[in-house]
Order: sequence, then structure tokens, then C-alpha cells
Amino acid sequence: MSMKRSTQTVRISIVGFGNVGRGVAEVIRRKREELARRYGLDITIVGIADLRGVIVDENGVSEEAIKALKTGHKSMGTMADMTSVEVIRDVEHEVMVEATPTNVETGEPGLTHIITALESGRHVVTSNKGPLAVEYKRLMELAAKKEKELRFEATVGGAMPIFSLVKGDLAGNEILSIKGILNGTCNYILTRMAEEGLPYEHVLKEAQEIGIAEANPSQDVEGVDTAVKLVILANSIFGRNATCKDVEVTGITEITPDALTLADEAGYVIKLIGEVDREGNLKVAPRLVPKDDPLNVGGILNVATIKTDLAGDITVIGKGAGPIEAASAMLSDLIGIYSQKVQ
Ligand SMILES: NC(=O)c1ccc[n+]([C@@H]2O[C@H](COP(=O)([O-])OP(=O)(O)OC[C@H]3O[C@@H](n4cnc5c(N)ncnc54)[C@H](OP(=O)(O)O)[C@@H]3O)[C@@H](O)[C@H]2O)c1
Repeated sequence: MSMKRSTQTVRISIVGFGNVGRGVAEVIRRKREELARRYGLDITIVGIADLRGVIVDENGVSEEAIKALKTGHKSMGTMADMTSVEVIRDVEHEVMVEATPTNVETGEPGLTHIITALESGRHVVTSNKGPLAVEYKRLMELAAKKEKELRFEATVGGAMPIFSLVKGDLAGNEILSIKGILNGTCNYILTRMAEEGLPYEHVLKEAQEIGIAEANPSQDVEGVDTAVKLVILANSIFGRNATCKDVEVTGITEITPDALTLADEAGYVIKLIGEVDREGNLKVAPRLVPKDDPLNVGGILNVATIKTDLAGDITVIGKGAGPIEAASAMLSDLIGIYSQKVQ
């Protein structure tokens, strides 16, 4: 006799409908049947908010409406005259997915979005590092007070599981340190410089042309992006109350092809390494990595070695960016919020 699992409807909003927000909508669409069959979840998007406009539909936003928002056509009769904050506060739903641009100084607009969602009794899944870098403690305390979850696997290492690995599979271990490559743009630049013997400026330009580096690459190449990720790791995994000011940061802009050649001859590569430990040291700097070390991964890949007291060293490697990769982490967060209740 087959048992049919009852399906729970989870209504979500997506705030910030760029690469990642659309990636989330896409994976939910692709995985609809599997989510129902394996997890008993029917994830329904009831609101989407973007700078271009807002769509709200309590029965689930249609594919046509999503297409209209993407192309900026407002003639569909689907656009609501609401702000993103009003969508989060006033439209009934269970989880707010936040994917607006990162601002590491103010945390906005994500900070206001997340506070509004928690205050309104909604769980939050975010890919946005800004709010967590600026107000981690306040946000987690608010989530605890409201008995809601705030999950952020996509903020560090994209698709690569770190938080869920540490909190789930490595439960019971003490985490001693986490060390790795947390910025794919820097890894790409250093890998190309080493392989081709090309200067930094040349490879940066090439990376910008193929869309791997942003037009303004300073956050990446000066190590700020990696520093922000270390702050999130320090606060979440090591219970610190760190901000970016606590991180010692050196970027990759001064690395020369000669330095890479010398390292190569001695059996090393140079990588931009971020490291955080339980003593509260947070450091980003170009470091010599032995060629046979698991941290020696090339191209745009990210990698992290988690040092533990019982399990020894565990290393994860994966894609640190990409809309579907980020959405993978966010879908996992979303399922994680409900999986205990489903099992
Ligand atoms: N891309 C990745 O691979 C990746 C991976 C991990 C984490 N992340 C993080 O995820 C977040 C989103 O990244 P993304 O690549 O999707 O960026 P994106 O393509 O620039 O998308 C951001 C979206 O947010 C919208 N937006 C801006 N301000 C808003 C506001 N006040 N209210 C509502 N919507 C607003 C933008 O609207 P307009 O288009 O109209 O400006 C845009 O649609 C960032 O914080 C990023 O750091 C990205």
C-alpha cells in the first residue's frame, strides 16, 4: 500500500529580482514535482519586488507575470502599486527571500527588508552579505525573539555548503579554524596570471570583458568581499561580534608575474586566502599555498578547509557564484526551515 504524503504550501516573496532572485524562481519552477514528492513542499511565489516594480498574486505569480517584470512590461495588469517593504509586511507569506545588492557600509536595502520580514513573522533566506556584515547580532536576536529563522548559506561560497555542514554534519565538533578562497574573481585572476605569466592589469581587463570581474572590481581585488565573508563566518560559527573593521586585509593588486614564477619554482601557488579562527583572528592576504594542498584550486572555484577537533580537516570545493548555484544554497535553506517538520 502506498502512502501519500500531504503537501504543505509555503508562500514566499522574492525581494530583489536580478540574477539570484530569478535563479531562485527558476529552481523552484524546475523542482516543483520533486519538492512535493521528496519534501512535501509546495513553494508558491506570492510576491516579487524589484526596482522595476512589484507583482503580487496570492494564488502564485504566473510565469507570464514574471516574464513581464523581467522585460519591464507593465501592461499585464499584474503590477501592484506597492513598495518592497509593503510587500514584505502586508502580503501574507511565510518566507522572504532577499537578493538585493550588497552594501557593506549600511547593509541597505537588505537590512530594512530583513528586519521588516522578521518583525512581520516571516522566515528569511538571503544571499545578501551586507545586512549580516553590519548587524549580525541584532538580526539573529530579532529572529530568535520572533521564533523565526534567518538563513544565509549563499552569502559565503555560493553553492558550497559551509554553515549547514558545520551545524549539521559536523555537529559535536569544535571548529578550530576556517581557511580558504572565498572570491572567485581573485582566484581567476591569480590562476590566469600564473598560467600565462601575464600582468595583473591585463588579466583584470580580460576578466572584465568575459564578465568574471565587475566594472568596479575594487571590492573583490582589494579583499573586501573576502573580509565580509570572514565576518559572517566569525559571527555565525565562532560566536563573535565582528565587523569588517576587525579584519586585517591585503588584496591582490600588488602581485606580480615574477612573484608567481618564484612561487611556482619553489612548489607553491599564490592565492588570496581568508582565514578565521576561534581565537578571533580574521585575516585576508595573498599567501603561498603548496601545490599539493587541497586549497590549490584554480579558475573561479572557491574552497574552504574547516579544521575541527574530531573530524580533522574537511575541505569543500565548489562554485562561489552564479545565479543557479546561489539559488541551490537558498533552496537548501528554504527546505531546511521546513524539513524537521516534514520528517
Ligand atoms: N550573483 C551571484 O552569483 C551571487 C552569489 C552569491 C550571493 N550574491 C548576492 O546576492 C545579491 C543579489 O545578487 P545579484 O547578482 O542577483 O544582483 P543583481 O543582478 O544586481 O540583482 C539585484 C536586484 O535587486 C534589485 N533591487 C535593488 N535595490 C532594490 C530595492 N531597494 N528593493 C527591491 N529590489 C531592489 C535590483 O533591481 P534593478 O535591476 O531594477 O536595479 C535587481 O533586480 C547580492 O547581494 C549579491 O552579493 C550573488
